[in-house]
Amino acid sequence: MNVLLAGGAGYIGSHTCVELIEAGHSVVVADNYSNSCPEAIARVEEITGASVKLYEADVCDPGAVEKIFSENDIDAVIHFAGLKAVGESCEKPLLYYRNNIDSTLTLLEAMKRHNVTRFIFSSSATVYGTPKEVPLVETMPTGTPTNPYGWTKLMMEQILTDTQRANPGMSIVILRYFNPIGAHKSGRIGEDPNGIPNNLMPFITQVAAGRLPQLGIFGDDYPTRDGTGVRDYIHVVDLAKGHVKAIDYSADHTGAEIVNLGTGTGYSVLEIVKAFERVNNIKIPYVIKPRRAGDIAECFANAEKAEKVLGWKAELGMDEMCYDSWNWQSHNLNGYK
Ligand code: NAD
Ligand code: UD1
Repeated sequence: MNVLLAGGAGYIGSHTCVELIEAGHSVVVADNYSNSCPEAIARVEEITGASVKLYEADVCDPGAVEKIFSENDIDAVIHFAGLKAVGESCEKPLLYYRNNIDSTLTLLEAMKRHNVTRFIFSSSATVYGTPKEVPLVETMPTGTPTNPYGWTKLMMEQILTDTQRANPGMSIVILRYFNPIGAHKSGRIGEDPNGIPNNLMPFITQVAAGRLPQLGIFGDDYPTRDGTGVRDYIHVVDLAKGHVKAIDYSADHTGAEIVNLGTGTGYSVLEIVKAFERVNNIKIPYVIKPRRAGDIAECFANAEKAEKVLGWKAELGMDEMCYDSWNWQSHNLNGYK
């Protein structure tokens, strides 16, 4: 199978490249490097020993996307190419709506011209909004996103569902990711955020590396086991394998299917800090800070549908997530730079 990965040089995309290649697929990557660099793909090639066809391209640009489809026999598309910083999306909503929605429309239009019918989409648990109950099941109503980033995901889910309805031969798999962390076991590829990280695990690894003095824990008065926020952290390699299963599934499927990719288990912030300290034998200094605006107490998946429909289940636990996150960061103190 020849799979186009839009945004394939990013954190989840680069890990998915490795898993697809190891499962016997060929990959074509299109990325404009707005949040990544070609070095990530050089390292994918180093890990797999395979070559990756790489285009520096903005997938909102119809001409650039047309060139990729004309030069390659694409069987399926995985769309990772999105902007994802929640805070930035509130400051620059037009940039987020333009990039995230335009990229989706441009890819779908090119697929139609070239009779490509299989599309896998990176959605997010953010579409559930503030959950009334956990674990979250795909059939639960989506919520009201508190930021433009979340709205783009919800809007794109609608666009994809409508597109599939009008094109019944299409297979669209919408994957709602929970909280990906960790890195490939080689330590050669991993998450490389710009500036001070917003997300928990990259913040912890940068404290461990001495780049940041201490972690701020956003609130210890939530109605959870220890008062800190609970999330469903999933190893990025498990998540990447979920995409391989989705690609296999889409071969004999038509319809629009929404699937959670999570482990089904929630961990609190303090539990993560303790696990990281134990596994890596490093102390993480922290202070308790006020709650972060827009945060919710608990969010974790019911992961049964992924197992039933895709035959996929997360296999790696919190210890591997903490070990691999630090293995990547400690061997790449400045990321890919
Ligand atoms: P990332 O920023 O590392 O990867 C996204 C990639 O897309 C980057 O390489 C970026 O340069 C590229 N890109 C962005 N806009 C582009 C455009 N117009 N044309 C070409 N390339 C473009 O992010 P990630 O963590 O790998 O996330 C991948 C996808 O998964 C995103 O859509 C994100 O919203 C979604 N997602 C991520 C998380 C998470 O916690 N990481 C959670 C839920 C959903
Ligand atoms: C965030 C985004 C969400 C996105 C997800 C995955 C927000 C409000 N939400 O979710 O839209 O889909 O990332 O990219 O940004 N925490 C700290 N200190 C920190 C960082 C985080 O205590 O320095 C806590 C948070 O309060 C939360 C947990 O750690 O309880 C996880 O936070 P984070 O990694 O940012 O992910 P989410 O908030 O789940």
